[in-house]
Amino acid sequence: MKIIDDIPGDKSVSHRAVIIGSLVEGTSIFNGFLTSDDCLATVSIFRELGVDIELNETTLVIKGQGVRGLTEPKTMLNVGNSGTGIRLISGVLCGLPFKSVITGDASIQNRPMKRIIAPLTAMGATIESVGDLPPLTIYGQSNLTSDWHYDMPVASAQVKSSILLAAVSAGVRVSVKEPDACRDHTERMLRLFGADVISDNGTIQLVTPQLHAIDNQIQIPGDISSALFFICLALMINRPMVFKNIGLNPSRTACLDILRLMGATIEVKEHATAFEPMGDIVVRPCNQLKNIQIPPELVPNVIDELPILALLATKATGKMVVREAKELRVKESDRISGIHRLMTALGGDVVEYEDGFDIQGTLHVAKKCSFDAHFDHRLAMSALIAGKAFGVEIDVTGVGSISTSFPNFISLLNGIDPI
Ligand code: S3P
Repeated sequence: MKIIDDIPGDKSVSHRAVIIGSLVEGTSIFNGFLTSDDCLATVSIFRELGVDIELNETTLVIKGQGVRGLTEPKTMLNVGNSGTGIRLISGVLCGLPFKSVITGDASIQNRPMKRIIAPLTAMGATIESVGDLPPLTIYGQSNLTSDWHYDMPVASAQVKSSILLAAVSAGVRVSVKEPDACRDHTERMLRLFGADVISDNGTIQLVTPQLHAIDNQIQIPGDISSALFFICLALMINRPMVFKNIGLNPSRTACLDILRLMGATIEVKEHATAFEPMGDIVVRPCNQLKNIQIPPELVPNVIDELPILALLATKATGKMVVREAKELRVKESDRISGIHRLMTALGGDVVEYEDGFDIQGTLHVAKKCSFDAHFDHRLAMSALIAGKAFGVEIDVTGVGSISTSFPNFISLLNGIDPI
């Protein structure tokens, strides 16, 4: 059985490690940090805000001076390609008593920010932009409204986290209601550092926003969204594989439930449940996968996994149906259109809808094709997995984007024997 023990650290947790560690007074040590372009951009931003951060391979040491230790940046802050970076850090900046300007690459400058500008402004910050797009000029202030409540119109962990972090940096209480459950890494890490955060039936209440340092070193688990590319490859080429030390936070594992519904045999051996559950995922060969309709309430939980699940659908019988996934249109690229383009390039049977797609399984794949990933890491990786799974030559433009989330993807892929 092939053992894969070098899936890199979780991207969402790594961003939060830098951000929340920088708000704590005292030293915080995180192991397993993801040294991808997105997370390194977040490190640079907090260094620019005056925080002492050391990075030795994948160990991150943050010597925070607390929220009031953060200082006005001298330059424009740049998140690169990271939507998580801009939305979470903007929240923090809104609670700090100085002006800052934050932006990112061409993709970021086209991603919707009204979803954070509206609630953060309602909390008392002033944010200037042209057409609600980055660059955002933020005039923060430390007396944001306390005991404010927000009913989120979209199920977005980034929006929820932006509001919670604004409240932490301003030292005020807040509550947020999410329409569907989305990832809860911010709540977990705030609790780890002593904040009182209550989650009850979709409402998240930050009751005590004060943080304090902790003595233990913190392990960041492997990223299940990254692992899933190889889990799906294992299923597509029918090879047993085990993935070590992967994050098993229930707000991220619906992808495994979907694979099981499709007929895959997936075993999970959880061995650490500290602040983020972690364990090994064992994938065994199976006879024939069958496609399903993805339950809409699971869509926020698998939003990042839909491109690779769409590819897996081509090896299964029946039709994969995805709806209520309009959020895919505003990710690093328009992923509904990207999935449609990839399936078409491969010779697949795909129908695009405004909020999703249908894919008819069992593909007669083109022998040679090309695909432009529009600098979207998850589309680029899905295309390269397709090449390996079908044994076809696929010329992918935009593979440079892969380093935003999965720096060792290509070497891991090269280590899998061709079919
Ligand atoms: C993320 C939340 C998700 C996800 C993104 C990372 C996070 O976005 O797509 O890759 O770390 O909070 P939304 O919650 O905004 O959909």
